[in-house]
Amino acid sequence: NTPALVDTFGRVATDLRVSVTDRCNLRCTYCMPAEGLDWMAKPEMLTDDEMIRVIGVFVRLGVTQVRFTGGEPLLRRSLADVVRRVGELDPAPSMALTTNGIGLDRLAGPLAQAGLNRINVSLDTVDPQRFKEITRRDRFADVERGLKAAADAGLAPVKVNAVAMPGGDDPADLLQWCVDRGYELRFIEQMPLDAQHAWSRTAMMTGVQLREALSRRFQLEPVSSQERGSAPAERFLVDGGPATVGVIASVTAPFCAACDRVRLTADGQVRNCLFARDEGDLRTPLREGATDDELAQIIQGTMWRKAAGHGIGTPEFVQPDRPMSSIGG
Ligand code: GTP
Ligand code: 5AD
Ligand code: SF4
Repeated sequence: NTPALVDTFGRVATDLRVSVTDRCNLRCTYCMPAEGLDWMAKPEMLTDDEMIRVIGVFVRLGVTQVRFTGGEPLLRRSLADVVRRVGELDPAPSMALTTNGIGLDRLAGPLAQAGLNRINVSLDTVDPQRFKEITRRDRFADVERGLKAAADAGLAPVKVNAVAMPGGDDPADLLQWCVDRGYELRFIEQMPLDAQHAWSRTAMMTGVQLREALSRRFQLEPVSSQERGSAPAERFLVDGGPATVGVIASVTAPFCAACDRVRLTADGQVRNCLFARDEGDLRTPLREGATDDELAQIIQGTMWRKAAGHGIGTPEFVQPDRPMSSIGG
């Protein structure tokens, strides 16, 4: 019995990441320019009904987890309703959210009520001034409240994602802050997915450098690798545990060989990889009356073209046209 979403390397996609909007209320310097981007027009975006229908097809094809991303997913006003409706699919997938945390103080409760299971909040620093430099918005306190609301709503363990950057504040400060509050921190290597195409291999902080920086204050001890599976983060016990810190070394130690991901963009395109060079258009056939089986065939065809890996650092590597904010993290 062959899984429906298998690729030519034998990997099976079970984790669907849905970008529900390309808009964002922050302007992180490593992601987009100060003036923002040319956002998608409303008619280009899937409606709630269209999105839920497509997610239903993915679930029929074996997807067991749906992660909502953006841009900033909380900017889609219907998000809690979408979560509730996806939770009514049969079989119901588990549901996760990746957000910058702004507005979460108000929405964490309703989202948990609607059936959301897990949450990852992006936060690169706990210094409010530095936060303003990175995101170009003075909103650290909003994120702090959002994180607390998520924990209070029972979305535990709350994970925090931080893009590792050289020359900033001490990453150990962020780790201490997360440990004190029971948040599970993961540092991420910066990838060439910024709208400005300014990424450079020499300007990024590597997972090894990050571990060195953390080791000046904490003792890190690897968590046994059997527990990792297809998870992108390599985890370490902090000072003997139980707190852990993760390192997502997507550039220097890619997890492509174990990838179980597939993506749906807010304008209805299937992407088999963050770095995919082509997409499978679902929106056009959907609006022309395609059946679920026809949509399923397009999705399967797209998976069949999935490459072995992202190839960052090889001469053939080309950064995708779509930036991270419109693909979904
Ligand atoms: P968990 O399932 O909670 O571990 O979350 P996750 O790591 O799958 O999701 P999250 O959205 O928090 O992603 C964390 C970071 O991992 C992202 O910001 C990306 O930098 C990186 N990442 C996510 N998906 C991919 C992927 O398909 N390929 C690569 N190379 N990196 C990815
Ligand atoms: N490389 C790695 N991670 C990135 N993020 C945004 N841009 C990049 C990049 N170029 C992170 C955000 C958030 C998640 C969705 O992706 O900080 O944690
Ligand atoms: Fe917004 Fe995320 Fe991009 Fe920051 S990284 S500007 S929070 S989409």
